[in-house]
Amino acid sequence: MGNENLLENQERREEDTQWKEKSCSELIDHIVSKHHEYLHTELPALSPYVSKIHHVHGAVHVELFHVQTLFQQIKSELEQHSLIEETEVFPIIKAWERTPSATNAEKLSQLLAELENDHENVGLLLRELRSVTRDFSLPPNACMTYRMTYQRLEELEADLLEHIHLETDILFPKAIAELSR
Ligand SMILES: [Fe+2]
Ligand SMILES: [Fe+2]
Repeated sequence: MGNENLLENQERREEDTQWKEKSCSELIDHIVSKHHEYLHTELPALSPYVSKIHHVHGAVHVELFHVQTLFQQIKSELEQHSLIEETEVFPIIKAWERTPSATNAEKLSQLLAELENDHENVGLLLRELRSVTRDFSLPPNACMTYRMTYQRLEELEADLLEHIHLETDILFPKAIAELSR
């Protein structure tokens, strides 16, 4: 592992510690304003480019068919998933943090388990995307649109990994722990 990776890991650990010390509500606001906002804008913006490179280069680069299918699966999975988080789960956690109530606790743990399941699915789809694109490697002489699309897909992956990490490893366990106190 290079020095850069070590430094990144250390920064990540420090950030995690900071979030663990904050309230669930503060972490939720951060997740929504940084990661959900990004998805709301980026998924519909990127979609026509993924279709375009498939349409233009798919005959030569047959893996673009899978790229297109995987992207659409990730997009629709995330659109439903984020909506449930924003309209159901996050409001319950916030309300519960203000006024703990037993009824919400049961519903919340069930919803969190379902969201966890979605995170695992998205994780698998992302791994498949990385595999079919051979780590987002471009063919020689790839056009600008091809390059830009692969770069943005890789950025989407990085943002999602951080987003899912914050929810799966910090927010959800924290909510469950506070819940069972
Ligand atoms: Fe989320
Ligand atoms: Fe999520």
